[in-house]
Amino acid sequence: METDLSALYQLLGSRDRPVLPSGEQRAVLGCGYVGQTLARQWRAQGHAVTGTTRRASRLESLSQWVDEAILFDSESSKNDLSFINTVDCLVVALAPTGQQYVDLDTYRSVFSRGIDQICSAIAARQSSSPLTVIQLSSCGLYGDHGGALTCEQSRIDLLHPINALLAGSESKLQELRSDHVSVTTLRLGGIYGPGREIPDWLLAAAGQQVERCGHHVPCWIHRDDVVEAVDLIAALNLSGLYNVVDDLQLSKQTITDHLCAAIGLPQVEWMGSEREQRVLHAAVSNQSIKRLGFQLQYPSMIDWYLASRSAAV
Ligand SMILES: NC(=O)c1ccc[n+]([C@@H]2O[C@H](COP(=O)([O-])OP(=O)(O)OC[C@H]3O[C@@H](n4cnc5c(N)ncnc54)[C@H](OP(=O)(O)O)[C@@H]3O)[C@@H](O)[C@H]2O)c1
Repeated sequence: METDLSALYQLLGSRDRPVLPSGEQRAVLGCGYVGQTLARQWRAQGHAVTGTTRRASRLESLSQWVDEAILFDSESSKNDLSFINTVDCLVVALAPTGQQYVDLDTYRSVFSRGIDQICSAIAARQSSSPLTVIQLSSCGLYGDHGGALTCEQSRIDLLHPINALLAGSESKLQELRSDHVSVTTLRLGGIYGPGREIPDWLLAAAGQQVERCGHHVPCWIHRDDVVEAVDLIAALNLSGLYNVVDDLQLSKQTITDHLCAAIGLPQVEWMGSEREQRVLHAAVSNQSIKRLGFQLQYPSMIDWYLASRSAAV
């Protein structure tokens, strides 16, 4: 029989998280938008942080925020992931970047060839000290649920090749679980925050016709809430699968209608499209991670955006 530990987790989650005087050894694979913010926060908390980038040109700037900046490129055979031998916590925050259109092979490079290299390095680890692996995955995996309430146990859409690759990467990492390796998958909504003002992108279509379906329900999460969720899992040293999304659960049309009305712009006319292939249409639940004591700093992308606009005036 499984014991319900949610009350204990809530208590632990609500407390300030202690950092040992010496800190922990932590690593962030993929110091992009989320990864770099996380690495900076952990270093400020006293952890020794290793971070990776794919570009040699970023090593110097990344070195400001981490103790050791390392090159990791899923296409390279020269990667040195030996630092994984000594880390207490490893976050996998890789995503294809740098291009507007990302083709399937680029996804395959990151979520198949890259993940395989990471899995081999974890499996080859000599140490039996505890390791927490946290993978940042995507709620895009759920696909089209007709806008219905969708939780971690709901079916995922394996028909779309990108989703199949992502799901494969989740399984490969989850299979590494052992007595001393815990693995948690966090499925994220679309990430927004400073420098990624998704509402601005939606508002750019105000007064225009858009060849997309406005009735689809996507999901969103602020960058700093992702960082908090990762920090919580690292502190609790758990294995599991959790959705990390805000409370919004509204269709794209309803979101843009709210935004346009609040700012005094004409509404977007959603024309629908047969060409949309990777659809997310699901009211994704965040109840599981909330049961661990997770509290959203930004429950609504709309409120965050309107508050940041009025603060800037
Ligand atoms: N963005 C979203 O809306 C969203 C939604 C759901 C889930 N997620 C997940 O959330 C995590 C963080 O996303 P993010 O937006 O912070 O990502 P991001 O800003 O695009 O950063 C991605 C990181 O991966 C590295 N990278 C790219 N291609 C690589 C390759 N071939 N080999 C090795 N490293 C490579 C990049 O290297 P450089 O430092 O050289 O750029 C960068 O450090 C990712 O795991 C992503 O899958 C994101």
